[in-house]
Amino acid sequence: MPVTYRGRPIATLDDVDVRGKRVLVRFDLNSPVDPSTRRILDASRIEEAARTLRELVERGAGVAILSHQGRPLEDDFISLEPHAELLSKASGVYVEFVMDVVGAESARRLSRLSPGEVVLLDNSRIVSEDYIEAPPEAHARGLMVSRLSRFFDLYVNDAFSASHRSQASIVGFPLVIPGVAGRVLEGELRALSRALEGGERPRVFVVGGAKLSDAVDLVDYLTSSGAADEVLTTGLVALLFLKAMGRRLPQATERLVERKAKGKVRRAVELIAEGRPVKVPLDFIVEEDGKVYISDASSLRGAPKDIGPSTIEYYRAKIAKARVVVIRGPAGVIEDPRFRRGTVELVRAALASNAHVILGGGHFRAVLSELGGEFKGGRVHVSTGGGALLQFLSGRPLPGLEALAESASRFKLVGGGL
Ligand code: 3PG
Repeated sequence: MPVTYRGRPIATLDDVDVRGKRVLVRFDLNSPVDPSTRRILDASRIEEAARTLRELVERGAGVAILSHQGRPLEDDFISLEPHAELLSKASGVYVEFVMDVVGAESARRLSRLSPGEVVLLDNSRIVSEDYIEAPPEAHARGLMVSRLSRFFDLYVNDAFSASHRSQASIVGFPLVIPGVAGRVLEGELRALSRALEGGERPRVFVVGGAKLSDAVDLVDYLTSSGAADEVLTTGLVALLFLKAMGRRLPQATERLVERKAKGKVRRAVELIAEGRPVKVPLDFIVEEDGKVYISDASSLRGAPKDIGPSTIEYYRAKIAKARVVVIRGPAGVIEDPRFRRGTVELVRAALASNAHVILGGGHFRAVLSELGGEFKGGRVHVSTGGGALLQFLSGRPLPGLEALAESASRFKLVGGGL
């Protein structure tokens, strides 16, 4: 069954016969990485991808995988070698790692790809085209797409969480070879449409995490498009907006926020001045000289690690009245059990409400299992998407999904099929 995106059909794996075909799959295996050990901290996106991979192999396809990991020169910009091992483990299918993307080594291996085999190419952002935002037609003519597409009969985009990027591996291939949605992407589209179709209000967005420059743009889109009636900030995002409101932050926090915001502080100040419905925490759990205590947001001290109890109550009341609740990013440093409560309590409040609940990020799976029986099945969707999810919810088109819709019509994938 095809899925619909902005009124246009996108073909899925149900619409194509993959037996004996050579299939290029774009997964989003991008995972959080420990900056000092460079080890993967959370494999949930890899585990999600395993399902599509298993299906393709069971149905008789030969599979090559492309994915990015991190951003060039950042701590998490690592090779995909560990991902191959984790994906093998999660899928039960042997995944061979090839330390190349568009060079001779990759061409040699792809030219003899057989049914049942799985090859994972290295970090796609080693090739600059896969980090450059450009129109799909330009990427379709680019080096990555022209070098790789000749080895494949079919392209599968299963990287919902990277589909807000107009980069080569997302938008270029489906214009050149038939492109369909993988199971993760299909599941996201179906669940999100279910939550949003009824047009229920209010919609409350809880935006946290540490990707600050993206967060400012997203809060901007969410509040200007009317997608969100209210944005409740947590994590480092909250500290940025506190700063934008003119509050003083502890020196080290101030420096961290400035470094991560990459020049977006001024835009955050403007959003506040324009009266956008952005809320900030009343208090934080902070750590100072080995002590953990509650600090008021108006006279913040120490290193803020989680939202405090008054903030939990303040946000809980807003979540209780919502009809759609989207939580993106953790409220604190959830890897440390001392700073997990904010995130857990906000999820608990969302589950106790009558709202459709969308949780953005794999770490929420662990939070949900911690909350056990409070989970109301169908109304809760754990999305793989961070930025992509918010862009989807704010109504701005996702280039990767538009490219799939274009592919469905260009290659007549819906109705007739391959
Ligand atoms: C994400 O983690 O949101 C996606 O993998 C996209 O990564 P990016 O923001 O570096 O493009």
